[in-house]
Amino acid sequence: MNQPKYKTWVRSKALITFSVLTVISVLLSLLSFISVLFLIFIIPTLLFGYILLIVGVTGWRLSEIGGDYQNKIHQLIASKVEGNRILDIGCGSGHLLAIIAKQNPESELVGIDFWGDNWEYSKELCINNFRAENITNKVEFRKETASNLPDDLGMFDCIVSCMTFHEVQDVNDKTISIEVALRHLKKGGRFIFLDLFQDPKYYPERKKIDKVIASQNGRVTERKSLSEVIQLPFPLKHKKVLGYAEIITGRMAD
Ligand SMILES: C[S@@+](CC[C@H](N)C(=O)[O-])C[C@H]1O[C@@H](n2cnc3c(N)ncnc32)[C@H](O)[C@@H]1O
Repeated sequence: MNQPKYKTWVRSKALITFSVLTVISVLLSLLSFISVLFLIFIIPTLLFGYILLIVGVTGWRLSEIGGDYQNKIHQLIASKVEGNRILDIGCGSGHLLAIIAKQNPESELVGIDFWGDNWEYSKELCINNFRAENITNKVEFRKETASNLPDDLGMFDCIVSCMTFHEVQDVNDKTISIEVALRHLKKGGRFIFLDLFQDPKYYPERKKIDKVIASQNGRVTERKSLSEVIQLPFPLKHKKVLGYAEIITGRMAD
């Protein structure tokens, strides 16, 4: 039988690249072991080895066999979902939407994603995963960019987004996608956004997030570091992994 394929956020391209770089630098270090060149090659060996360790163990932790943390994060978001018409911005492989669908088989779901070359997710993967899971909800997957959602998506009771806004490359200001999302929420509608909101690289002005939400008549009802809600083991707590992740929940004015 067809099995769903929910790949982790760790791209195999990254694993392969750092494995190759580590092997090459180890070989160069060994070949130059008794010369002064060893001191030059040992630095990249340690650096690439460390990055490979972080990337590799992150992939394992996120997967089912290493603690299932990606699923735990999706379950956390899904547990806060309300209403009948739900949008997932940056739906990836459709995993979060599949959980929401199973929670409420009557709900109507829309998943949008840009599905660029940088990721190993696709619209076909989402459709196949929903088929493999025998999900019967009304669902639509569309290729769109989070920074410019079309009006014909319509209005939603609830919008979720997980680890996507900081990935949107067509805008420098990552809060633009938040503003665009909120325009598609009904009055009283709920939003649950998880992203690297505490990372100054992506969100240099933290107050801007609240300003943007308020400008759309939204209100933050809960804001927590991911590590406060889920105990993150090494290396998920690392600043370059999920150390800056925060979950922001809120509601639009009635
Ligand atoms: C870390 S993955 C998260 C995927 C999914 N939300 C999840 O939790 O499994 C980031 C996602 O952002 C999507 N993405 C990148 N740029 C985007 C854009 N401009 N608009 C919508 N999605 C985008 C990628 O295709 C990828 O699926």
